[in-house]
Amino acid sequence: MAIYNLGSINADLLYSVPHLPRPGETLASTALRRGLGGKGANMSVAAARGAARVVHIGAVGPDGRWARDLLTEYGVDTRHIAVVDQVTGHAVILLDPDGENTIIINPGANHAIDQNQIGLALAEASPGDILLMQNETTHQAFSAETGSSLGLRVVYAAAPFNADAVRAVLPYLDMLILNAVEALQLEQALGKAPGDLGLADVIVTLGAQGCRWFQGASGQVVDFPALPVTPVDTTGAGDTFTGYLLGGLDRGMQMAQAINLATKAAALMVTRVGTADVIPDLLEIQQMDQPPAKGA
Ligand code: RIB
Repeated sequence: MAIYNLGSINADLLYSVPHLPRPGETLASTALRRGLGGKGANMSVAAARGAARVVHIGAVGPDGRWARDLLTEYGVDTRHIAVVDQVTGHAVILLDPDGENTIIINPGANHAIDQNQIGLALAEASPGDILLMQNETTHQAFSAETGSSLGLRVVYAAAPFNADAVRAVLPYLDMLILNAVEALQLEQALGKAPGDLGLADVIVTLGAQGCRWFQGASGQVVDFPALPVTPVDTTGAGDTFTGYLLGGLDRGMQMAQAINLATKAAALMVTRVGTADVIPDLLEIQQMDQPPAKGA
């Protein structure tokens, strides 16, 4: 099986700041890190590090070949990443000492993905494969409709949140993943609670409170606790959760097992500064369960 991920690819510029700036304020950062990011790329890397086969569908500009090469190095199939005549997407991330962030994205090439390119990629997929999307690219509705008609399991991570974007893909979705704030915004926009959307699965992530799974068929709601960690950077933790969750499901795990794996991956991720480059691998997650070696 495989995950086809229509997703953004960004150059992340991560500035550590003493606090998130107020309107009109000029702030000096205390550190700058550059790396690979984008919600799409982060999810692809997480799923690949979780041992799933991932085909990324996206675009970079001529200045972003390094990002495509890095994704290949990280184990992602990059044959369907186009190089287009646009600047590569980038994100300016401000990180405060509590690990909270503010992010500005410039979509660039992420908004120049071609419909034919998506069609060609999805033509390789088999029924039962996963189609994953977030809201940092164009053509989500077309992809969702195409994926659904091909018998793919269509999954939408509703970030950055936009109610109209969710509305456009909703008829084709099998699974929706969103955080508590987004779930509330969606409920206000549609007048429906997560469990009433008619989807097979809805996962609402709750940060330090874990996550809640709404199972469509049975109407069951199951809560999963988070692991206690001290966060240094929450950027990309949700992407890591989603990538690991879908990677686990694609490899045949039951939902509860995949959520537990994803919860551990996200917990480890918030103890690290950075995005795609620092997403933990399966071995590191297994080591979380091991007692420290004697003398260590
Ligand atoms: O979710 C974190 C990601 O959001 C960053 O990697 C940044 O590129 C933005 O897309």
